[in-house]
Amino acid sequence: MGGEETIFGTKEVTLRSGKRITIRPMIAEDEQALLEFFRELPDKLLVFLRHNVRDPAVIREWVEHLSYDRVLPLLALDGSKIVADVTLHRISHGWKRHIGQVRIVVSPDYQGQGLATAMLNEVVELAAELGLEKLWAEVPLDSIAAVRAFRNAGFGCKAVIEGLVKDAEDNNMDILIMVCDIERYFDRKWLSKDINLHHQIIRE
Ligand SMILES: CC(C)(COP(=O)(O)OP(=O)(O)OC[C@H]1O[C@@H](n2cnc3c(N)ncnc32)[C@H](O)[C@@H]1OP(=O)(O)O)[C@@H](O)C(=O)NCCC(=O)NCCS
Repeated sequence: MGGEETIFGTKEVTLRSGKRITIRPMIAEDEQALLEFFRELPDKLLVFLRHNVRDPAVIREWVEHLSYDRVLPLLALDGSKIVADVTLHRISHGWKRHIGQVRIVVSPDYQGQGLATAMLNEVVELAAELGLEKLWAEVPLDSIAAVRAFRNAGFGCKAVIEGLVKDAEDNNMDILIMVCDIERYFDRKWLSKDINLHHQIIRE
């Protein structure tokens, strides 16, 4: 286990459109760009997040208390513009101490180009370096893109909880619990020709 900031690097990925995107951990200097990213997202995408991320005080609190041991946020940048955010949340004690929870949101203009898949694969590799054994995600059952992106990164479908959460219009939604077994992710990565091919396409 670690949390040492030096183990995390900056990566470049090329989207299906040919656009080059930088993926790197969030730093305190990202405060303004992060606020702009969240302010530009449609309301329906914000419902997946637990905080009022359009409130500058919330983002200020995040940057002032950045702790990769607790929450590791990875950002995708097109130049200086943030276009996606994935967070890996960790629990330091108790029976979930080996589990990380993952949330992701990609700006609509950058969806459908492999960005979520690339970022989630990155999160799984970082989680392995951090000594985590499993990753957990709560995904809207009706979001084909979300289910496929997590599946692309080695997550499997484990359970459905009907009508558990509410969307932006106050309708109840079904949630799919997806789990990635990190050891199996690496078995799968080396054994699957498809996955190696996928990595060649989207990674440097
Ligand atoms: C879910 C989300 C992160 C996916 O981001 P993305 O960058 O578009 O994902 P990818 O481009 O990696 O696509 C993943 C898969 O979904 C498919 N896909 C993307 N958009 C799609 C759409 N609108 N309809 C059907 N399939 C779609 C892609 O073709 C790809 O499939 P494949 O590679 O297996 O063929 C994005 O839609 C989003 O931010 N949604 C709102 C937040 C959310 O639901 N988060 C998940 C819960 S934490």
